[in-house]
Amino acid sequence: MVVKLPIKRNVRILLVGDRSVGKTSLILSLVSEEFPENVPAKAEEITIPADVTPEQVPTNIVDYSAVEQTDEQLIEQIKRASVICVVYAVDNDESFDRISSYWLPLIRQNHPDGTCPVVLVGNKIDLVDYSTIDGLYAIMEDYAEIETCIECSAKTLKNISEMFYYAQKSVLHPIGPLYSAEKGD
Ligand code: GTP
Repeated sequence: MVVKLPIKRNVRILLVGDRSVGKTSLILSLVSEEFPENVPAKAEEITIPADVTPEQVPTNIVDYSAVEQTDEQLIEQIKRASVICVVYAVDNDESFDRISSYWLPLIRQNHPDGTCPVVLVGNKIDLVDYSTIDGLYAIMEDYAEIETCIECSAKTLKNISEMFYYAQKSVLHPIGPLYSAEKGD
């Protein structure tokens, strides 16, 4: 049997997560290659042309701000995304807990077929001397749509380009199951 997969013509990366975890800073750090001292509430949507992305596919990066956007606008963006980065701050337990209590259920409600990959992003690694990755494994077991997780720092630029590369790669070369054995389709 030949499996035919659609060719992706662009990648739309949406960043969500609790307030102040550093979503806007991550985007601006990627674009300017330096940490922005003053960040707006929300970054403008950014289009990265194909020839400067590692996978040669035009990529849009979309920020979310609870201050500037309604819940309806958030849901619309979740539906339009081809991959969603759920950002938490490694020094903020509440933002970590809300990955599974709020963000992943919301994403699943709006992509019930589980076809929108998710990347978990622990930001502000410069502030701590421990890793939160071990705590993510249990969450990853419950949500097959999570492709990968990464810790980074918008401040020191550690793993910033890697984070966006993983997001792009999870759309173009997903490693998750192509079908659900439970659903049998
Ligand atoms: P909202 O707009 O409220 O949703 O916040 P946000 O998630 O976009 O966070 P934002 O980028 O506005 O950053 C919040 C605060 O965290 C700012 O004071 C940033 O300077 C700071 N910050 C962001 N990333 C880092 C980081 O990697 N390390 C440190 N130390 N501070 C950071």
